[in-house]
Amino acid sequence: MILLDRKVVRKISPNESYNHRLHSQFLKQSKFAHQNVRTPEVIGSGFTEDGRFFFDMRYIKGRSLASIFKSERLSTCIKMVDCLDGIHRVDGEVDIRSSIFDKLNSLNVSTDIKELILGVDWRVGVGFCHGDMTFENVIVSEDGIYLIDFLDSFVDSPVIDRAKMLQDAFCYWSFDDGSYVPKRKLMSVCERYGDSIHYRMLLLHLLRIVPYADASSKARLTWMIDKTKDKINRL
Ligand SMILES: Nc1ncnc2c1ncn2[C@@H]1O[C@H](COP(=O)(O)OP(=O)(O)O)[C@@H](O)[C@H]1O
Ligand SMILES: [Mg+2]
Repeated sequence: MILLDRKVVRKISPNESYNHRLHSQFLKQSKFAHQNVRTPEVIGSGFTEDGRFFFDMRYIKGRSLASIFKSERLSTCIKMVDCLDGIHRVDGEVDIRSSIFDKLNSLNVSTDIKELILGVDWRVGVGFCHGDMTFENVIVSEDGIYLIDFLDSFVDSPVIDRAKMLQDAFCYWSFDDGSYVPKRKLMSVCERYGDSIHYRMLLLHLLRIVPYADASSKARLTWMIDKTKDKINRL
């Protein structure tokens, strides 16, 4: 991420093999239109001299949703979460059990975990989703709520975004700087999305991160995985 000037941000692919994913992100962000939630206007795109894709967008002055949760009232925070959930529209249903099964098989996880995750009906609503709706990918500015860092996912479903919200609300993902964690406010988000499919999708998200975790983040990730497993077992 480069701040080109006070008003423009350039997002550059880390390498050529990531170009297609950043390009999908660029398309998703360019097409996004919603009444109550915005995204920074995309201004242009291109390739660096060494062949890496980039795109430019407006710089948004504001605070992340994590920062809002730390300082604003519960009702304000919940209003924002509701607003974000408002981008979801379900146009049908699809059974993603075989995709979940394949993903679990590609990971080095125990039979217990596989059974835990597969132990529900995996028919989910399909429709537009952001793809990586963490609290750090939401910028709250004076003129509204902005979504950044869209991601393509294996299924377009609100379940993907709600599980990512739980990653912050239940596992405190974006609250890793050692400062205050607003647990009571976060708990009300968990109550909202607290059904078993969202926690199972969260567990799958976390397991998929394990291979990329470095030594320092591994302990925290293990804590999140154990906490989520526990929760599913208690549901
Ligand atoms: N358009 C923007 N305006 C203001 N800040 C931005 C903008 N885009 C990104 N950022 C800041 O840079 C951070 C990283 O950008 P992001 O697109 O989320 O990349 P990453 O893939 O590294 O998470 C964001 O969390 C946000 O703080
Ligand atoms: Mg991000």
